Amino acid sequence: MHLHDTSTEVLTQAILRYAVERMRMDPPLDGPRTMAELRAMAGRTITPTGIGGLEALRVFTDVLAPSCISVDHQRFLSFVPAAPTEAAILFDLVVGASSIYAGSWLEGGGAVFAENEALRYLADLAGMPPTAGGVFVSGGTAGNLSALIAARYRWRHRSGGRHDRTRGAIVVSAGAHSSIASGARAMDVDVVAVPADGHGRLTGESLDGVLNGLPAADRDRLFAVVCTSGTTNAGVIDDLTAVADAAEREGLWMHVDGAYGGAALAAPSVRPKFAGIERADSFICDPHKWLFAPFDCCALLYRQPDVARAAHTQHAEYLDVLHDEHTATAPEWNASDYAHHLTRRARGLPFWFSLATHGTAAYTAAVERTLTVARQAARMIDDAPHLELVMEPELGVVLFRRLGWNPPEYQQWSDDMLRRQLAFVVPTKWRGDTVLRFCIVNPLTTTDDIALILESLA
Ligand SMILES: Cc1ncc(COP(=O)(O)O)c(C=O)c1O
Repeated sequence: MHLHDTSTEVLTQAILRYAVERMRMDPPLDGPRTMAELRAMAGRTITPTGIGGLEALRVFTDVLAPSCISVDHQRFLSFVPAAPTEAAILFDLVVGASSIYAGSWLEGGGAVFAENEALRYLADLAGMPPTAGGVFVSGGTAGNLSALIAARYRWRHRSGGRHDRTRGAIVVSAGAHSSIASGARAMDVDVVAVPADGHGRLTGESLDGVLNGLPAADRDRLFAVVCTSGTTNAGVIDDLTAVADAAEREGLWMHVDGAYGGAALAAPSVRPKFAGIERADSFICDPHKWLFAPFDCCALLYRQPDVARAAHTQHAEYLDVLHDEHTATAPEWNASDYAHHLTRRARGLPFWFSLATHGTAAYTAAVERTLTVARQAARMIDDAPHLELVMEPELGVVLFRRLGWNPPEYQQWSDDMLRRQLAFVVPTKWRGDTVLRFCIVNPLTTTDDIALILESLA
């Protein structure tokens, strides 16, 4: 199994051929099958003697891969799609082949160094201080949870023991992603929701109203305010300056969830909308969403990484050597210490490699291109008598109605578009109404793609 022999060579060629072909082609949309269908089509794959690599690859190629929707298809506009660059995809293969343990500096220093360069690019875009730093985690959910754990640690630490057993609470904008509530449940902390304005945005006025209305005992339990720079459903950015002012005044940790929208910091046309982000205590951005990295890749940044390190470092006899300042390999940056994890893949490397290959200007141009298509889509919707724009897109999310349709009609249309392999656009809800939503992150998505979809709604 571990020998590199002639059969490995044959398999290498087959796998590389598959990977290169998948990158080269216009990906089909494909779509899900039932468990029973897959069982019948895939047959038995796990056997005492193995079915062989070529046969396993065939099952993947013919059965399994076509049963997954291609998120990088240019008309996959649901949820948050992905559009990894060729350089990033290729380097993901290299990361897999390199067996790097990227949790500690001792074992993975070279990889962590490069990951930190990529983190620095994001920290600079956000205007965070030179001392800011962090780690790549699996996704926004993990990033939000890890940031909030660090926030609670600081609150308890600062209270000098007074809050060691107090149930904490966080203030959260109504447009926040579901992962914030999920993290709060995992941490067993309360969530104080701040009503959003008509666009789903947190404003200073509503935040101050909620804070001022809280009884003193509850106010004392608050340790963080969470805002969103690019809500998932509507793509709007909270009033980050107002949040920073309130956080400073109340002594709260300011966490900015830019899992989706943080990428647009690279785009000068919308950068002013992020004013205030430079004051965040922590910030996340998922390069696997809008910065063209393969899954799974979330950048988690802290203003004061030593707080996060104190909150997250795992201690054990067998790990102590990793933290010993007196060994020959000083622990420059143990990446595991900055989030709720230990073993980690060097998942920031494909992003780093692509950034290094293409340069940051190419990233700016690619994000701007998607923003332009989103704005053009809004104009095309304005011009179509059967459609109505819900709001002007702030980033790359476009919400709109098909006038006269009920929820089942939206769903039937969506199912039909996937069945015909034309597009993958699922309905969402806006203020209780079923509407359609485009999330445009793929620089290959064109206005022709948008026109094709809008015409099908006539
Ligand atoms: C704003 C926001 N935060 C967090 C998440 C969760 O990220 P992940 O799916 O990578 O865990 C998402 C996902 O879409 C998001 O849009």
